[in-house]
Amino acid sequence: MGKTRILILGGTTEARLLGAALAARPDLDATISLAGRTVDPLPQPVPVRIGGFGGAEGLARYLREKEISILIDATHPFAAQMSRNAVEAAAASGLPAFTLRRAPWQPVEGDRWVPVSDVPEVVSALGPAPRHVFLAIGRQEAHHVNRAPMHHYLVRSVDPVEPALTVPHVTYIRDLGPFRLDDEIRLMRHHQIDALVTKNSGGSATYAKIEAARQLGVEVIMVERAPGAGLPVTTTVEGALNHLDHLLSPAMKRGV
Ligand SMILES: NC(=O)c1ccc[n+]([C@@H]2O[C@H](COP(=O)([O-])OP(=O)(O)OC[C@H]3O[C@@H](n4cnc5c(N)ncnc54)[C@H](OP(=O)(O)O)[C@@H]3O)[C@@H](O)[C@H]2O)c1
Repeated sequence: MGKTRILILGGTTEARLLGAALAARPDLDATISLAGRTVDPLPQPVPVRIGGFGGAEGLARYLREKEISILIDATHPFAAQMSRNAVEAAAASGLPAFTLRRAPWQPVEGDRWVPVSDVPEVVSALGPAPRHVFLAIGRQEAHHVNRAPMHHYLVRSVDPVEPALTVPHVTYIRDLGPFRLDDEIRLMRHHQIDALVTKNSGGSATYAKIEAARQLGVEVIMVERAPGAGLPVTTTVEGALNHLDHLLSPAMKRGV
């Protein structure tokens, strides 16, 4: 019997871990798809394809051509366009599909969060008075703070911010998590940070900055997630494996 082909839309730790679990399965043939944004992507445990598909239609064509049976959207919680495309392509192809997405962080006692619905809203949340801002939202949307040149920025991203920001006071650090609490506290103290800007990505690898902000009494401008795109969601790799086994069960497989 042929192997069941699975496409994992990746770019996250969860996609990599799920790929590692599936690599060991003799009944499955999994591929991870990356957008190709990261200059030096981490090695992946299963074969990788890189680059956009050309919208939902392009993805549907790929699913058909590669005879994919199950689509798993394990992209980052803020990769909203890709997730919309996944819903559309799965519906158009009549394929079973689900989302693997880590749960968002929840505020706990001592947190000072200011929720905002998107990155452009960060600027008004920071207010007009000059502040020392730790901008930890990745490089793609960092340019929005060009509208607020009165603040000092510490910008951390995996790849360089290009083009550079136009604000006069900016320090760049390139780093890839996981980050440690004591390092985050030291960094935030050193740069006299009084506002942390982050996306509500969830997960443990980048949570230390949230804990550091709590301990230092620093305000957190929290960019919240948009509502999910509509596929069934599991929040853990284990949940994804269970969901997959359910789809692969003989009764379900008749439709796969
Ligand atoms: N947004 C974040 O904060 C963030 C953080 C960490 C990692 N990532 C990862 O970085 C990648 C890009 O994120 P984004 O926010 O730029 O996505 P996005 O805005 O939702 O997607 C824009 C376009 O990029 C292509 N694309 C995105 N993810 C892809 C994938 N896994 N495989 C193939 N093509 C993909 C698609 O192009 P076509 O329409 O041409 O198919 C998509 O329409 C994703 O893989 C995501 O998991 C994102």
